Amino acid sequence: VKLFLDTANIEEIRRGAELGVISGVTTNPSLAAKEGIGGSAGYRAAVQEIADIIDGPISVEVVSTDADGMIAEGRDIAEWIPNPWVKIPSTEEGFKAISALARDGIKINQTLVFSVNQALLGANAGSTVVSPFVGRLDDIGHDGIGLVGNIVDVYREQAIETMVMAASIRGPRHCQLAAEIGADISTVPYGVLMQMMKHPLTDAGLSQFLQDWQKASGG
Ligand code: E4P
Repeated sequence: VKLFLDTANIEEIRRGAELGVISGVTTNPSLAAKEGIGGSAGYRAAVQEIADIIDGPISVEVVSTDADGMIAEGRDIAEWIPNPWVKIPSTEEGFKAISALARDGIKINQTLVFSVNQALLGANAGSTVVSPFVGRLDDIGHDGIGLVGNIVDVYREQAIETMVMAASIRGPRHCQLAAEIGADISTVPYGVLMQMMKHPLTDAGLSQFLQDWQKASGG
């Protein structure tokens, strides 16, 4: 499973990139607003800074809700950076925009996916990747990872090439389960990425190795 950092925070992206385990970045209007980024020019500058750090797809979301507006924004975003994935919501207007932008050869991250049928429509419209929102489904008592698995199964059965990106990941276990169930990509908030590498037995083991080494070396 490829990991895409789910943040618009430049420092987090810089630190994540240093680890060499991040293949892309996902942003959305809420993540941008959290960093004080607003307006098209501000979003563009931030996304260009991210693209200078990460050599992979950067997902950038439209804020229009009508197809014409989304198409215009999508075409604009596609010019910002070398590897943009335009995020379009799974709405009636969104599907119109996805098919138009896909016909232009623009890569689409279909966002706010909460059902297999939305993922099937996206595949037919030309989405590059669909993003089922795991955490938000779990929040309302549904099975987020179950949805990821169902989409993976249907896509395999139908030989669909659209990728599945587990989004709205809330903890390391979500990430592990998304990988086990066959997601191509998992988004990871920075905090979850840090949790993924930690294990108390690693820390205890390292401390013991160093103590033993010091003793043997007369330290
Ligand atoms: C990524 O594509 C999504 O925008 C993001 O994972 C949403 O996560 P949240 O549900 O924690 O806001």
